[in-house]
Amino acid sequence: SAATERGVWRYAAALPFDEGVSLPEGDTPLHRVPRLEDEVGVASLRIKHEGMNPTGSFKDRGMTVGVRAARELGVGRLACASTGNTSAALAAYGGRADMETLVLLPAGKVAAGKVAQAALHGARILEVDGNFDACLDIVQELAGRGEAYLLNSLNPFRLEGQKTIGFEILEAHLADYGTFPDRIVLPVGNAGNTAALYKAFRELVQADALEPEEVPALTGVQAADAAPMVEAIEDGADEIRRWEEVETIATAIRIGNPVNAPKALPGIRNTGGTAVAVADEEITAAQRDLAGEGVGVEPASAASVAGLRKLRDRGVVDDDERVVCLTTGHLLKDPDAAYEAGNDPEPVPNDADAVLEHLRE
Ligand code: F0G
Repeated sequence: SAATERGVWRYAAALPFDEGVSLPEGDTPLHRVPRLEDEVGVASLRIKHEGMNPTGSFKDRGMTVGVRAARELGVGRLACASTGNTSAALAAYGGRADMETLVLLPAGKVAAGKVAQAALHGARILEVDGNFDACLDIVQELAGRGEAYLLNSLNPFRLEGQKTIGFEILEAHLADYGTFPDRIVLPVGNAGNTAALYKAFRELVQADALEPEEVPALTGVQAADAAPMVEAIEDGADEIRRWEEVETIATAIRIGNPVNAPKALPGIRNTGGTAVAVADEEITAAQRDLAGEGVGVEPASAASVAGLRKLRDRGVVDDDERVVCLTTGHLLKDPDAAYEAGNDPEPVPNDADAVLEHLRE
């Protein structure tokens, strides 16, 4: 059907099914941001805005495949732990497939837009007195006991769909510049996208569609107080150390135990990438700068640009590099963070002259 030839399902040859439970997803823009590009000082900077997917995050690319797999398997109940976006996507795609959905959220730590989506799309929302990692422990336990089908990024079907981010970036970049990007900078939570992009590029290399040296350097960004992947990269460790206490304004990546680390650490290392931690203030500044050029993203997404800035300052990223930053979720996901970061409304009298007077002040 027409819907399945768009977006994610245009790459069906690289996916485990010919079509999925689709809304449809993918085909997201690769924005130009000339002012940021100038300021950061790289050969080119583009923003792959995954917030433009149907539920406002990249999770839709995984769910279109994952929920299709669940339907194929005939499972009774879909479940995920989530910092918000996964729950919104699962609720929507589960609803589309007419399946029961259960989402476990860390109480008080999920942005308003995401809870609203999960609620309205019809998921049962279980608020856990614990962080995301605790929620994921519980869901894994439920899945292990056969009580639910797990749709977190531990589910390999999810990552299959998310590979298409990499395919779209390479195609669009090649069309615009005649070359692939040198580096892809992305926020890291569970490191699912890092693992998915690495798999996408390895498959292209195996198919002789990409030279090994053309694989973009995968560069992960975490919030300073939730940075176990950065720690592992800096220490040259093969495994991550689980952080029990994590905190950041970027609640989407408020994660202390990135479950895809075994797949993602080699992805970062073998592509010549790196990982960097950024402060919440740096995230907010990047969010404001992106929004200033019309690209509205949630805080976790802005971490990519904040991380790029830091790596330029440190001289890790060269000025001749072509860089793509991945922005993973839409501004409206977290309206509270947007209010906090943006301009304050100014009360004015109900009178044109008084409004002009106010503007002159
Ligand atoms: N950015 C956003 C907006 C996210 O929602 C997430 C993950 C990430 C980045 C990190 O991606 O896990 O592939 O490294 N959100 C998950 C959720 C945990 O439950 O919505 P990753």
